[in-house]
Parts: sequence; C-alpha cells; structure tokens
Amino acid sequence: MSTMKRILIVGNWKMNLTVHEASLLVKRLHDKIQVHRDIEVVLAPSMLALQPVSQEIDKRKFKLAAQDAFYKDEGAFTGEVSFTMLRGLVDYAIVGHSERRIYFHETLEVVRDKVKAAVRNDITPILCVGETSREKAAGETSRVIHDQVTTALSDLTPEEVEKVVIAYEPVWAISTFGGELAKPDAVKKTMDQIRNLVKELYGAETAEALRVIYGGSVDDHTAGGYLAIEGVDGLLPGSASLNYHKFAGIIDSAYRQLHKKDKQDG
Ligand code: PGA
Repeated sequence: MSTMKRILIVGNWKMNLTVHEASLLVKRLHDKIQVHRDIEVVLAPSMLALQPVSQEIDKRKFKLAAQDAFYKDEGAFTGEVSFTMLRGLVDYAIVGHSERRIYFHETLEVVRDKVKAAVRNDITPILCVGETSREKAAGETSRVIHDQVTTALSDLTPEEVEKVVIAYEPVWAISTFGGELAKPDAVKKTMDQIRNLVKELYGAETAEALRVIYGGSVDDHTAGGYLAIEGVDGLLPGSASLNYHKFAGIIDSAYRQLHKKDKQDG
C-alpha cells in the first residue's frame, strides 16, 4: 500500500442481480459496512440498477461505478449508453475489463477512446489491464501491459493521468477465466512495471499520485495479502462482491491493513 492514499475497494457485480436483488444487497451492505475516512468503497451494479441504487445508498458510505459505457457522447448508436449520460450519476467507470476485451472484442484503441470519454465527462476511469494465460506462458506479460497502458493513456495530459485508476487483473486469475491465485511477488512485479511506465511517460509526480489496484479472484481470505503489497492502493473483487459477508470481510481486511500501518508509523 502507498502512504497517504485512501484504500479503494471496488465491487464489480458484472451481469448479475435484478434491480430488486441489487437493492437487497445494498441494504445488507449498509448494515455491515461502516464509514471509514481512509477507505473508499465503490459499487459497480448493472447499468439498469445504477439509478435506483444511487437513490438507496448513503453517499458517505458508497460511491458508484458503471461497468462500461460508449465513447461517443450521443448519437445513433443503438443500445449504447454514453459517459455523458452517466455524468453526475457515477464517480467511476470500469473501462477495458478483460471480459469486454475478450467477449466484445474491444481493441486497444476503443479502450483509449473510452478512457478519454470518461475523463471528458468528469468520471474517473478504472482502466483494467492484464495478460491472458497464453500470453503469460509465452513470456509476453510485460509487452501486453506496456501496450495496454500506453495506448489507453495516450490521449490524456499528465494532470488527467493522475486521476486515473489502473486495475491490474491478470486474466488467468479472474474467476471467469480460471481463477488461479496470483502470487504476491508476481503481482508486485507487474504493479511496479505499471507505475514505472507511467513515471517514464508522465513524470514522477503523476506516477506517485496514480492509484493502482489489484483484481482477480480476491476474496475476504486473500484481500489482506494483496493489500500488504507495497504499491497496491486497493482491490477490484468480482464474484466476492456479490456476497455481503465476503465483501464486508474485504473491507475489514482494509481496516486491518490501515491499523497495521498506523502502528508501524508510530
Ligand atoms: P473475480 O472478478 O473476483 O470474480 O475473479 C474480478 C473482476 O473481473 O473484476
């Protein structure tokens, strides 16, 4: 964890829960989770549930994220929702999740345009990057990360990059694609690569301000281990965020991590 930053925990509900089920989960989470000034908790329900959930949440406790949106602000794009339409409703938007890159064939350039559109509409993009198991086996992790990060940020100024969140999610570690547990030193290596890349391209100040979080089968048992890695500013759990015990357990791990830090600092 980096010093001085709030821990960011983002629950990606993916294509799960009806509006009614989403509202039940929100109620449970309200009861279980306490406000903590150093932890920012973000929920990413389906597009359909965003509006009702926004009226049900205590905004001091939870912020909202969209799971995706289209890069044009308006026009004849049947079926799409733009970042402009989400402005004011969400603080964050997940962009370039591996399920979108793989199932919906989102290219590096599409992801870049979505990152730009989010920033243009005052929404913080949570840019997801990560290598597939085939790329990992071929020793291509660092090239893949390099290409995904540099292309996605290429239309932004250093001031804009500072506000971006980058989520490292090795595709092979995501429950959808195998859910193999990533080792902390491998995670640290790629997280460091991401920050160093941003440093080279946009300067040390930008790299330090940028939040880099980890995702990929994180649950209440593994969260603490990942949060303890130097440079990890938060987590992006998927399936565990649908279970209020597990999600609250992840937030508890973040509390414990903060306490540990406080003790170490004196
Ligand atoms: P998972 O998903 O926690 O279910 O592996 C993480 C993600 O895809 O964001």
